[in-house]
Amino acid sequence: MSKPVRAKISALGTYLPPRVLTNSDLEKMVDTSNEWILERVGIRERHIADKGVAASDMAVLAVQNLLESHPFDLQEVDLIIVGTVTPDMMYPSTACLVQHKLGIKNTWGFDVSAGCSGFVYALNTGVKFVESGQYKKVLVIGADKNSAMTDYTDRAVCIIFGDGAGAVLLEPSEDGAGVIDHVAQIEGAGGKFLYMPGGGSLNPASHETVNQKMHYIHQDGQQVFKYAVKKMAEMTERVLEKNNLSGKDVDCFIAHQANKRIITATADRLGMPLEKVVINIDRFGNTTAGTIPIAMQTALEEKKLKKGDLLLIAAVGAGFTSGASLIRWAF
Ligand code: UT7
Repeated sequence: MSKPVRAKISALGTYLPPRVLTNSDLEKMVDTSNEWILERVGIRERHIADKGVAASDMAVLAVQNLLESHPFDLQEVDLIIVGTVTPDMMYPSTACLVQHKLGIKNTWGFDVSAGCSGFVYALNTGVKFVESGQYKKVLVIGADKNSAMTDYTDRAVCIIFGDGAGAVLLEPSEDGAGVIDHVAQIEGAGGKFLYMPGGGSLNPASHETVNQKMHYIHQDGQQVFKYAVKKMAEMTERVLEKNNLSGKDVDCFIAHQANKRIITATADRLGMPLEKVVINIDRFGNTTAGTIPIAMQTALEEKKLKKGDLLLIAAVGAGFTSGASLIRWAF
């Protein structure tokens, strides 16, 4: 029997819109303070896309950034998967919009809706297509324009979110590098704690849905926080145990950037020193499906991640969704 193909991340690109919203800007908009946000969440500032810039535009810019570091013919892309909960519109999918804007002719694609786990779910889906031997180049993108769904009078929500995108290229691996394994779980009972109720088939857009602020992010922060701390630890431990590994074997840990306290609590539970943990929430806030590829970029820049390293990624998000992956880094 031939050895199964492993899928490696062979290139990475990110995009963050240039406009920055600082804690002191937010102090002028809602009853909050720089000290409270820094202490309770760990954010200093976040990037916000301009009106008219959609999730697909940020996704395209992330792919163009990827091409700068890793030039290749985009016409070779077999499949595009976009993790997002802020698609440009209900349909067509963001993947279709991205394909058209990039001018890729012979490909297919779809969106993955998994909240803050969007990139991890999209990645693991793309990995399966490469492992099957069927596809050689898969673009996996996480892109969210959270500012479009944020009520900037709700202080418990508007301080958290930012906009951004990241893209990776998956290709078959020849040297053992690549995605080793993953775990994932959904628990729909948690849907009531983080959701956007308006605009779907249950509550189609109307004056009433607008008046009731149904087109904004609704969140029970404490419930999400408690679940995220528990589940982030559970999923990371599960994927490590499944592969007979422990936190000590991991060279770099990237958790979804939702709250600095969730990240440090997970690292603590895994017995992982903070030098191995990537934290950029202070600069970018929570970009939902964008956080993990953007944090991969931070890890490379800070030299916390290099070729051959064992990388652990994990996310928990709306749904509830959760997942974790083990990756042997390829470049
Ligand atoms: O990726 C998934 C997306 N979301 C998350 O992961 C979010 C997870 N949850 C969290 O990060 C935290 O729960 C929050 C940052 C949302 C809130 O922090 P917290 O420490 O859990 O605050 P809390 O909800 O327990 O509220 C404590 C107090 C309340 O005041 P009272 O009732 O004690 O007087 C809030 O009204 O803090 C108040 N508060 C604020 N004060 C200043 C809530 N938001 C703010 C704010 N500035 N922005």
